[in-house]
Amino acid sequence: MATSGQPYYICSISDISPEKPYVFNLKDKIEIVVFQLKNNYFALENRCPHAGAKLNEGILEDNILTCIWHGWKFDIESGQCLNEYWAKIQTFSVILQGEELYLHNIDEDKLFL
Ligand code: FES
Repeated sequence: MATSGQPYYICSISDISPEKPYVFNLKDKIEIVVFQLKNNYFALENRCPHAGAKLNEGILEDNILTCIWHGWKFDIESGQCLNEYWAKIQTFSVILQGEELYLHNIDEDKLFL
């Protein structure tokens, strides 16, 4: 496993809100969505493992994200699907430094999946 030691800048906390998740491309390899839940931030691959819907368009209630295409539900902390045990979204560690959000401990190997 190759982890990058350098935190990767995502955005300012003013760019994101509970109603407006933040979407970006990480190194042109993977699209990531960051959700704000109260004062916590969760980063996940922005692709439903069922049929590829954009998860930033999903409905977030507490820590459960519902995909709008077919209704699968996911725990945004773990990425685990609550409908199908084998389905999981790749998650990324987010850290807050001052007013800025960063990805932390990026596993470079997973970016090619
Ligand atoms: S694409 Fe997400 S539930 Fe089908």
